[in-house]
Amino acid sequence: MRAIEWDGKEFKLLDQTKLPQQLEYIRTDDYREIIGAIKRLAVRGAPAIGIAAAFALAFASAEIKTSDRSRYMEELEKIAHEIEAARPTAVNLRWSIQRLLKRAREGEDDTSVPEILLTEAELIREEDIRMCRQIGINGAGLLPDSGGVITHCNTGALATGDHGTAQSVIITAIEQGKQLRVYADETRPLLQGARLTMFELQARGIDATLITDNTAAFVMQQGKAHAVVTGADRIAANGDTANKIGTYGLAVLAKHHGIPFYVAAPSSTVDIECPDGTAIPIEERDAKEVTHPFGMQIAPDTIDVYSPAFDVTPNHLITAIITETGVVKAPYEKNLKKIFDTGTTV
Ligand code: MRU
Repeated sequence: MRAIEWDGKEFKLLDQTKLPQQLEYIRTDDYREIIGAIKRLAVRGAPAIGIAAAFALAFASAEIKTSDRSRYMEELEKIAHEIEAARPTAVNLRWSIQRLLKRAREGEDDTSVPEILLTEAELIREEDIRMCRQIGINGAGLLPDSGGVITHCNTGALATGDHGTAQSVIITAIEQGKQLRVYADETRPLLQGARLTMFELQARGIDATLITDNTAAFVMQQGKAHAVVTGADRIAANGDTANKIGTYGLAVLAKHHGIPFYVAAPSSTVDIECPDGTAIPIEERDAKEVTHPFGMQIAPDTIDVYSPAFDVTPNHLITAIITETGVVKAPYEKNLKKIFDTGTTV
């Protein structure tokens, strides 16, 4: 099951807001509808958002009707900003949009731009699938031969081109014969862990147990967890990592209990221009997602709510960052830079 499908004619997004009850696709080539799908988390997960955004810009490029080259680029850049603004934390969105804009600027004439951009969007998707597979291969060896692994939010095929990031590490380790039980945090308030991760793990026949977010500490104290693996929405140059709200708490708990805490992400999630976590923009979500989850009121009306979608885990709490180029350890500033300087982590 893939979050995003493109067969050269039809573009489909699996509407993740409907999971696990309904498998419903959004069929569209309207960039506005794709922006809407990103905003309401019908498509979500940093790499998947990046891919959806790339297709959105490619489709938009075919809508611009002008033979004036500079007017064309102006219009395209305006739409690009609109797409980039859909969700501010996951850097993959900006990364893929900037990559497409660069290709558009290199394009020979306006008529060829839509074709060039569609090819590039497809390339981004294919690359992401390969990167995720490699993240799994690179990270599997870090997990114990047996024991429990806690994960947070959804980092599987639904959040990426395919395979996932943190989930790819866990799945690859299990494929290699490791006897692992996954503890999946339900991930308040939108329950990506309960709705999506448990759905994916169950479909794969993986030994998985759902826990409420506030159960993780007890699971660690009881000696049931031997590693934590999460994804990332943006990794700053110094290794500080933004990921789904609750990740930081897990990292603190892991440190307290002497459990390794791993982050798994493609290099497209590393924002080398962002010096540290304080510079990462954190998206705030609508209070209704907390007070009225899935349409059911659980708190009084008109109360004050603070609902950041992400938090930042400081680099010193991260045992290693697993990327497609290899496993990066501290000092992160020096070692993450190597990925961009040499394309490898060694
Ligand atoms: O708000 P979401 O569902 O887009 O948040 C997703 C996460 O935080 C994931 O952990 C992250 O994007 C990594 S996914 C491979």
